[in-house]
Amino acid sequence: MSTDSAATNATTTTSAAIGTDGKLTVVDHPLVAHKITMLRNVETDSNAFRSLCQEVTLLTAYEALRHLPVAPVTVETPITSTKSPMLAGPAPALVGILRAGLVMVEAVLTLIPHARVGHLGLYRDPESHLPVEYYRKLPPEIEKREVLLVDPMLATGGSVIHALDVLTEVGCDQVHLLSIIGCPEGVAAVHAAHPEVPITLAAIDERLNDHAYIVPGLGDAGDRIYGTQ
Ligand code: PRP
Ligand code: URA
Repeated sequence: MSTDSAATNATTTTSAAIGTDGKLTVVDHPLVAHKITMLRNVETDSNAFRSLCQEVTLLTAYEALRHLPVAPVTVETPITSTKSPMLAGPAPALVGILRAGLVMVEAVLTLIPHARVGHLGLYRDPESHLPVEYYRKLPPEIEKREVLLVDPMLATGGSVIHALDVLTEVGCDQVHLLSIIGCPEGVAAVHAAHPEVPITLAAIDERLNDHAYIVPGLGDAGDRIYGTQ
């Protein structure tokens, strides 16, 4: 790693600066920024990359899950009886886009172990960059649950839009997207297709390159997580 400022800048642009309507949160925290830089580093091996993805997910899920409903329950402390809030309503649903979303699912499950988990298998066609669905398994009554959709990379937005289309088809209307790195093109595409869906990111980068990879980004997240490059 170098401190040379001549390299392509990774930005932490705010929602206003890229013209969205307030549905975008870019988590601004030194720990998140530090870990994102380690994720970007080409020298970071798969084992460290997976751990960093999970740590960034934990730090950003805290923000993305802020809206979960709570209700007071009565609890006996060693001192007295008191009313104190607990998560209320049906267990939230956590939907991971395979492959790369799997590491984020595991991280969020440590925060909400009672969440129901769904998986959508999608890969980007190498020529068209459009998502191809190869697997779908969603929890029962997902339409009654708060849904957190997770995928580390929001590039063209095609994969996330496909996932949101699927969730909308089955009746979900409380969906929040959590990604690690996004770009203005992907955010704009998701906002255009699903303007109601809030997006939380750990970082928003400059742009897409000619191969629809995020610049500066971190490369192919799935390959780096699973060592398949
Ligand atoms: C990556 C990533 C997203 C998608 C983002 O998955 O995890 O799902 O690309 O790109 P988009 O916004 O342009 O759709 P990939 O297709 O490489 O599959 P993988 O997770 O199996 O590696
Ligand atoms: N998918 C990735 O894993 N990385 C990118 O930069 C774009 C799509």
